[in-house]
Amino acid sequence: MLNILKQNGPLTAAKVVKPINRDKLIDRLKEFYSLEKFQVQYYQAQLSAANDEYYQRAFAKMVQIESGHAAYFAKQLQAAGIELPKTVPLLEMAGRLLGEAVELTGPEQTCKLGIALESRAIEVYRRFAFEVWDDREMRRTLLEYLLDEEFHSLWLKDYLKRWH
Ligand SMILES: [Fe+2]
Ligand SMILES: [Fe+2]
Repeated sequence: MLNILKQNGPLTAAKVVKPINRDKLIDRLKEFYSLEKFQVQYYQAQLSAANDEYYQRAFAKMVQIESGHAAYFAKQLQAAGIELPKTVPLLEMAGRLLGEAVELTGPEQTCKLGIALESRAIEVYRRFAFEVWDDREMRRTLLEYLLDEEFHSLWLKDYLKRWH
């Protein structure tokens, strides 16, 4: 069962993952809302940090996409009558997500941390999509967002490879 949750595993054997109950679903929605809000904050902070227009546009695009993701989870929580979790300061959240102290300096470090964040997002999106597999609409949204995160991760990796 764990095999299918691996980063490179197929996305077809979803039925073996136990669906989640409402409480767990609410927890997941909160977790994803916080994760997405953090990504928005993180990429937004990079907009003013560089004077390379191409690089800035890339981050502006990511801010836009991540904002859409955050809005979806906010909407789901609101529909369930649940208060939105408070946002956590950037560095604290980065440390919490990545389990280490982080420094946000320069494009190289920025891309590396971005890749780490995206990898984590990819991992949790895959698991969540399996957990709600029977909910076609949510599954479709989660798979779309998973793809967005995969594209971000690929762009960041490519940028690092070409310029650093
Ligand atoms: Fe996202
Ligand atoms: Fe992303």
